[in-house]
Amino acid sequence: MTMFQHESVLLEEACNLLVTDVNGIYVDGTLGRAGHSMRLLQLLSSSGRVIGCDKDPTAIAHANNLAEQDGRLQVVHDSFANIDQYLDGRQINGLLLDLGVSSPQLDDADRGFSFMRSGKLDMRMNPEIGISAAELLANISEQDLIDILITYGEERYARRIAAAIIARRYIRPFVDTYDLADVVKQAHPNWQKGKHPATKVFQALRIKVNDELTDLEILLSKLLDLLVVGGRLVIISFHSLEDRIVKNFIRRYSSNQRDIPRRLPVFDSNNSDIRLRKLGKFKASSEQIKLNPRSRSAIMRGAEKIL
Ligand SMILES: C[S@@+](CC[C@H](N)C(=O)[O-])C[C@H]1O[C@@H](n2cnc3c(N)ncnc32)[C@H](O)[C@@H]1O
Repeated sequence: MTMFQHESVLLEEACNLLVTDVNGIYVDGTLGRAGHSMRLLQLLSSSGRVIGCDKDPTAIAHANNLAEQDGRLQVVHDSFANIDQYLDGRQINGLLLDLGVSSPQLDDADRGFSFMRSGKLDMRMNPEIGISAAELLANISEQDLIDILITYGEERYARRIAAAIIARRYIRPFVDTYDLADVVKQAHPNWQKGKHPATKVFQALRIKVNDELTDLEILLSKLLDLLVVGGRLVIISFHSLEDRIVKNFIRRYSSNQRDIPRRLPVFDSNNSDIRLRKLGKFKASSEQIKLNPRSRSAIMRGAEKIL
């Protein structure tokens, strides 16, 4: 893979699971370099449509070039949480989310997503709105920082790390990714072992800066109204916080099914909440992980709207 390219995770599996009607309308909420969108377009007929959405202006510029060549692709520069505003009342046949950041975002040091490169501590998927990670760290209280590191990073040493960050910020503000990673490393007691000690801190700040979990929850709260009956959702997550939200959503609307004997009519009003049929949980094969190490932590879940 060369610089600024993105190798799509579970490409065939996700697109094949999603498409049930080749003439349908599909939302790709996380365009990135449009690997999934392009595969979806290949699977669809000339009347099928893909509405691709991303917060990132670079992803949008890339997708706009593709849309010029294929009129079936509509490009939306916004959060997927707002996708209903672009559907003109149409229902959709499927929603695909491939969450998190893309390789081009990680590879571009000045986007600030990577602690492996020295760059501007930004971390915004859309650098034109909101506040950067540097601005967040310049103004946040120690307690709020602890809460973010615990809630979004599940960081065991949140208190120590937050104290070190706040102490250092009075001497010199944080502007560089390496600088932050280094302060975290010094504060982290277990930095010799396993993953880089800044992994969870960077994840937590990125989730906060981009409101990632809120966006996911907002979209899921609208999704059942957006999907046609028989329409599907396919969501690829890369850490337990987002996967838990997806898993609980699918479980909430499908969990009683297991308890109902097949072929029996359902009279129990408690079962009125059942709107989804689970399609399963999928992971990348060892072959895929070898070719694309990013797919190691991917968990894909699918479900179909039945009511
Ligand atoms: C893992 S990449 C997607 C890669 C894509 N599936 C491909 O095959 O090239 C995730 C993308 O989703 C975007 N993204 C993440 N959260 C978003 C949100 N709430 N709304 C819109 N785009 C989002 C990121 O900017 C990034 O470009």
